[in-house]
Amino acid sequence: MHLIDLIARKRDGGRISPDEWRTFAVDYVAGKFPDYQVAALLMAVYFRGLDDEETYALTGAMLDSGVRLDLSHLGSAAIDKHSTGGVGDKISIILAPLVAACGVLVPMISGRALGHTGGTLDKLESIPGFNTRLSLDAARAQVERLGCVLIGQTGEIAPADKKLYALRDATATVEAIPLIAASIMSKKLAEGLGGLVLDVKTGAGAFLPETERALELAQAMIAIGERRGCPVVVLLTSMDHPLGVACGNALEVEESLDVLRGGGPADTRELTLALGAEMLVLGGAVDDIGEARSRLEYTLNSGAALQKFRQVVEAQGGDPRVVDTPGEVLPQAAEQRMFFSHRSGFVQRVEPRVIGRGVIALGGGRTSMEATIDASVGFRILVKPGDHIMRGQPLAAILARDAAGAELGSACVKEAIIIGDEEPARVPLISHRVTGRGVETLTK
Ligand code: URA
Repeated sequence: MHLIDLIARKRDGGRISPDEWRTFAVDYVAGKFPDYQVAALLMAVYFRGLDDEETYALTGAMLDSGVRLDLSHLGSAAIDKHSTGGVGDKISIILAPLVAACGVLVPMISGRALGHTGGTLDKLESIPGFNTRLSLDAARAQVERLGCVLIGQTGEIAPADKKLYALRDATATVEAIPLIAASIMSKKLAEGLGGLVLDVKTGAGAFLPETERALELAQAMIAIGERRGCPVVVLLTSMDHPLGVACGNALEVEESLDVLRGGGPADTRELTLALGAEMLVLGGAVDDIGEARSRLEYTLNSGAALQKFRQVVEAQGGDPRVVDTPGEVLPQAAEQRMFFSHRSGFVQRVEPRVIGRGVIALGGGRTSMEATIDASVGFRILVKPGDHIMRGQPLAAILARDAAGAELGSACVKEAIIIGDEEPARVPLISHRVTGRGVETLTK
């Protein structure tokens, strides 16, 4: 195959056939195409799009570029959750052990930081020793023993997506519905799932900020799941401001532990319960959402979810002391600075993209495919839109490597948190629930 022909065809608005996508995925994984040509193809797809059949074919090609996790011998449905990406979104770290502690298998394959958003794998790797690169055999054995595993793609699972994901991140080609849909669904279908819950973000910090586009993405992923026999439930959730308080890798692990102990920020806990409830119902552990929420709340409050997390950390080579003494185990930033409000008023906005890019600028994200991450840096954002604040009140803590980083972080917070006189309208945390049967509007 000459990739240049595909690039030119897509650039001019043509279609790429299922066979061509299959060959492309196999050959790309085999190292037959240079990244500059694949980047050009991605950019052509970004501008020209893919139709439903092409998106389905690309998903299948990426899925078939690797092997699948077969959990059928375990006799119960495996369920996973994936988010389209946000700032401060640490829900996967909480949800996998929580749902597993409720008796549903969770073979979770997550991604790394993408664009301005953080990645579950990078966050987990802030726990010293935590290994997200298990082989499929080791992952299968862990699901069998503990009910859950938290890993990355390795070379075995949808390796074409693994390479494309990193390249998209470095070429400004993340924000395309077919590319996001194929990326997420290829990884998830490789897990041999009996059902999937997706958290599709909307709002200023989402890859697709407009509700209509987020719904389009939701429907694209539901359609792929249904054709592959995997029921998908989507919640459309707000990424209009960072989720929770902590933004930054180690900080988010610490906040996840707070939620696993039964506390944590209200929005983070609520989203965990809403997504977890869908997982328990899909997994057949309970009959309805109300019963699912009670089971999840009990499992958080009883310490069973935290205990499951401790087991997972230990099984994956991490330091289990992180559970009881995170401050002693997780990397700590050398410089901590508070940012205070220069006026009284209502918080109008906390711009998630500015905070997400701020984490990267502090060293907590990648600016190239090879870059390494400083897990200690980030922000604690102490206010939400709608809060009334007084002059001199702390708005955020900046955690940086040095004084220059703290200066840079202060400038980000100043740009991100906008204070005004009027109380702004509240944006619901969860706006829609979408399934193969249609779209429900919610007001939570
Ligand atoms: N998460 C993924 O796995 N892929 C994307 O493209 C976006 C979010």
